[in-house]
Amino acid sequence: MTDTVFVLNGPNLNLLGTREPEIYGSDTLADIEAMLEEKARELSLAIDFRQTNHEGVLVDWLHEACRTGAKAVLLNAAAFTHTSIALLDAIKAIEPPVIEVHLSDPAKREPFRHLSYVSMAAADCVQGLGARGYAVALERAVQL
Ligand code: DQA
Repeated sequence: MTDTVFVLNGPNLNLLGTREPEIYGSDTLADIEAMLEEKARELSLAIDFRQTNHEGVLVDWLHEACRTGAKAVLLNAAAFTHTSIALLDAIKAIEPPVIEVHLSDPAKREPFRHLSYVSMAAADCVQGLGARGYAVALERAVQL
């Protein structure tokens, strides 16, 4: 059976393309999904690509990734990265490894973005590579 990787995107990422393009680039989330579908085909993987603006929904999806036996999760929790102990606890509670993804490099931005609760439990982190970072993270997911 083909392995599935969940790709979970948090708040405001539905606005990619028009949201601060000087920071996040001009690709839309649909562009990133299409690019990642292509990459997944090359790697003989399936992806389940989703976006929500709601913290609890991300928690539910992390549980679902575990329940359904996903191979790994790529998680761009966006602003919840810097605030959410609930996401940290969920990552610790589930079996599949979580790879943290950020389009920008939060470490080079405002001090409030330097703390990542997701990093405290994630298996790996890809940041600052723009949309390409999702493909790099998918390659790393195969190696885990
Ligand atoms: C982000 C970085 C976060 O600090 C920010 O809140 C986002 C996007 C990124 O992909 O660079 O919404 O996760």
